[in-house]
Amino acid sequence: MMKRVAILISGRGSNMTALVEAMKADDFPAEPVLILANRPDAGGLDYAKAEGLPTAVVDHTRFDTREAFDAAIHQELIAANADIVCLAGFMRLLTPGFVNKWTDRMINIHPSLLPKYPGLHTHQRAIDAGDAEAGCTVHYVVPEMDAGEIIGQSRVPIQPGDTADTLATRVIKVEHALYPACLAKATAQA
Ligand code: GRF
Repeated sequence: MMKRVAILISGRGSNMTALVEAMKADDFPAEPVLILANRPDAGGLDYAKAEGLPTAVVDHTRFDTREAFDAAIHQELIAANADIVCLAGFMRLLTPGFVNKWTDRMINIHPSLLPKYPGLHTHQRAIDAGDAEAGCTVHYVVPEMDAGEIIGQSRVPIQPGDTADTLATRVIKVEHALYPACLAKATAQA
């Protein structure tokens, strides 16, 4: 059975695009049913609309509490009949009450080799630490930020002279391959 996937974004949505493109394959066990952004100006919405995919904006600035914001997102996910939720550059912290409604059905991509460097500025932190490699992780979402069971990781070398930007360019390429592979894996378990 095809799983119905909702993708949550805040920005350009290159991982969302990679997921949608991968789901076009006949043998991919999932289909995109909703692209939801918390910012009306999220660049990824243009791609989603051009693809003819259902989109929604739940603007966090219009809600008084995180709980109310998360409840509005939950409603959209239910309305779309989503089975699985992919966070793809979604830059809002989610409340435990919401996260627990999607246990084992919500996954995230993070640009570090977790458990190293949860949070922001991951590439600069890896460079500053003198690490030999960096990478990205896809994991199940739990209430604690950037924690949760790891589904997959990809590694890249850190090269002499790397800046956060040059490293990010190297990592994002492997993100775009890792996330669809991990979605397929999570889909088989959902
Ligand atoms: C990616 O590096 C992702 O790992 C992180 O935020 C960035 C989002 O980029 N969570 P994009 O919007 O998918 O292009």
